[in-house]
Amino acid sequence: MQIEKVGVVGCGLMGHGIAQVAAQGGFSVIAFEVAQEPLDKGLARIEKSLARFASKAVEKGKQTEAEAAEWVSAARGRITPSTDENDLADCDLVIEAIVEDLDVKKELFARLGAAAKESTIFASNTSSFPIAEMAQASGRPTRFVGLHFFNPVQLMRLVEVVRTDATDDDVFAAARAFGEACGKSPVSCQDTPGFVVNRLLVPFMVQAIQMLDRGHASAEDIDAAMQLGCGHPMGPITLTDYVGLDTTLSILRGWTTRYPDEHAFAIPASLESKVAEGKLGRKTGEGYYKWDGDKKS
Ligand code: CAA
Ligand code: NAD
Repeated sequence: MQIEKVGVVGCGLMGHGIAQVAAQGGFSVIAFEVAQEPLDKGLARIEKSLARFASKAVEKGKQTEAEAAEWVSAARGRITPSTDENDLADCDLVIEAIVEDLDVKKELFARLGAAAKESTIFASNTSSFPIAEMAQASGRPTRFVGLHFFNPVQLMRLVEVVRTDATDDDVFAAARAFGEACGKSPVSCQDTPGFVVNRLLVPFMVQAIQMLDRGHASAEDIDAAMQLGCGHPMGPITLTDYVGLDTTLSILRGWTTRYPDEHAFAIPASLESKVAEGKLGRKTGEGYYKWDGDKKS
């Protein structure tokens, strides 16, 4: 099953990274957003990231300046920005990376299912929702998978490839091969809440925030403890800011509603109040910490 043209829906935190690694992998990419402003923001992040990789390659003597510039221009040149959903219709694979809201995702897949060519494979980058429900909404459950990339997509090496009971074997194999071509190591997952990583990681983040809410340790100490005591690259409170408090809350709202008896799924009080105040983490400049761009201030 040949994948050449890939549509990425949403050019936010995750979508811009997915569009970039797909372009780096040699695919022709449509980067779709609902409006010009988020699209421009996503493209600017892609250009900044490509430039970072290029200067690193030159610094390390892996490429000359001319080769690096050519690599950047080739990767950027494979990305076509769009705010017209019709541009996705002839893609071989469409990956959704929009807001973590199941109804909005189902509406999108219902439209895409009606418009896209028959052979198009659909994938969702959802952190927490059942892939099977979106697959049903698309009207083509056999051609639907989860492709769950990790933040920051450009640097994290994993992609979880999720199959439902209905996913065709060749569709699943094509999705895995796509992940590998993007430079990722795929793991196969069943369609269970949080797949592998988030089923373990999100309850851990909840425990850390609840510890902070109880006043048993400061954010700085919780983070330092997990970095220095367990070798984590960033602590769980910083990681919540990094993922986005809104996305973390959406994951937990979905799970606590669906699985009220699962004690690992709970909504910390501070998470709700911070989201209500618009403190969404790194992307808004404040969450549990204050941020100046990529760095805590
Ligand atoms: N593009 C290109 N290069 C980038 C980059 C980008 N977007 N971001 C950083 N870099 C480069 C930097 O320039 C730097 O290069 P040098 O080594 O040449 O200096 C290098 O990558 C490392 O970056 P930093 O020095 O800024 O930071 P770091 O060493 O602390 O690594 C990190 C950053 C990889 C994010 C690391 O902190 C980490 O692994 N954190 C944990 C992330 C994690 O757990 N992610 C999963 C979140 S959960 C999820 O994604 C699932 C979900 O559904 C919610
Ligand atoms: P984000 O808020 O940064 O970006 C979402 C983008 O989707 C926005 O730019 C928005 O304009 C766009 N959008 C909203 N509705 C849309 C629609 N109907 N059509 C097209 N675009 C639309 O969110 P994000 O953090 O990139 O998360 C996107 C998805 O990836 C979510 O499902 C999330 O759970 C998942 N995810 C997030 C992370 C993370 O660490 N943030 C990691 C893995 C997976």
